[in-house]
Amino acid sequence: MKRFVSDTVGLYLDRRDTASIVKGCLSGRAGKDAVAKYEQALAGYIGTGYAVAVSSARCAFYLILGYMRTLCPGKYRPEIILSAYNFYAIPSIIEECGFVPRFIDADYRTLNLDHGVLEKNINENTAAVLATHAYGNPCDMGRIEEVAAEKGLFVIEDCAHALGAECGGRKVGSFGLGSFFSFGFSKLITTFQGGVLATNDRKLYEYAKAETGGMKRTSAFSVLKNTAVGLAAGLFTSPAVFSAFTFYPWYFLNRCIGRFVDRAVKGRTDDPGSSETFRRRITPFQALVGYMQLGKIDEIVRKRITYSRMLDAALAGAEGVSPAESVREEDCMNIYLYYAVKVKEKSKVRRELLDRGIDSREGYLKNCGFNEETGPVFENASRLEEEVIMLPNHSKYGEKDILDLTVRLTGFFGGPGR
Ligand SMILES: Cc1ncc(COP(=O)(O)O)c(C=O)c1O
Repeated sequence: MKRFVSDTVGLYLDRRDTASIVKGCLSGRAGKDAVAKYEQALAGYIGTGYAVAVSSARCAFYLILGYMRTLCPGKYRPEIILSAYNFYAIPSIIEECGFVPRFIDADYRTLNLDHGVLEKNINENTAAVLATHAYGNPCDMGRIEEVAAEKGLFVIEDCAHALGAECGGRKVGSFGLGSFFSFGFSKLITTFQGGVLATNDRKLYEYAKAETGGMKRTSAFSVLKNTAVGLAAGLFTSPAVFSAFTFYPWYFLNRCIGRFVDRAVKGRTDDPGSSETFRRRITPFQALVGYMQLGKIDEIVRKRITYSRMLDAALAGAEGVSPAESVREEDCMNIYLYYAVKVKEKSKVRRELLDRGIDSREGYLKNCGFNEETGPVFENASRLEEEVIMLPNHSKYGEKDILDLTVRLTGFFGGPGR
């Protein structure tokens, strides 16, 4: 029986690419050129005037906020509106940069911020709206821009999951003051950790360039370690190796000590750390790795969309499982970095799926707006934290594999194929 892995490393280098990277690094000419070329290609792809490559999305967000702080000196405790269903490290970066996170609830259907409650949460201290395109599903940027323009707010986009996604015919990341993307291991493409700040604002670009110039470069040890981890994880989670080998120890681990693993992961996400750990410049090696993969993005995205629509069709009408919905089907393009569905009794469903050879992953956004005194004040974010899991849809699979997967999923959940 074929086993399906939910997540793999987003590395797409063939032998020619690898040879070029090695040659570039050995010749010593890679240096500054590689980073500049990579930044230019990224800006071209996203559709912005400028891009600044850094060590992580966190670092790029930190730079955008640092710049924004210089633009609102008069505001007392300026606030940034964001979805409570968010990545654990985001609120602490906002606080560290001198802003106050103002959470609003998520939309249970789309998993993005609830556009309906945005306006009533704006007050005289609101400085910006952070639009997080959860799992690659674009927010309604037209609506957000309209409200922001009317109230004089900045718009920032968290595109960590959304490279290639579109809204109204425009790539996400090209709206507002600035945006940030992640190239961590499981992202659409990876640079063995990395991120980029994209913007059309020349002053933000100059600020980010000047700031990154003063940062330390990611150390050779870190790059080596991340490369080794990325390559090993990529191998063990490749479809063939996972099915033939990795599944068995993974199954055993999940069956016997799954709860401890979940708790350890949760412990890590409870402590976001400080910016000291992520304020780094990218290395020319990472820039080369990123550059070599940029031309492949459209094909990767095409496959993810095709596979996710096959899953949509298979699960339509199934009971107890509902996929994330698009904000506007006609002109918003979800790139499905993850195929997110909501299920009740998440742990039980995941265990039973694993028994059928289907690995799933817990949704890794959580209810960041949870308040210890008042409880789960953000009802949808809290439900999403409880219910979201991610199913296999990645582009390293072929169409035939996904067909097999849909048959097995409909056998489990029910649906038109049963
Ligand atoms: C929504 C979101 N924003 C930001 C980040 C931070 O990205 P990085 O790990 O590159 O700093 C992540 C990481 O996965 C994320 O999921």
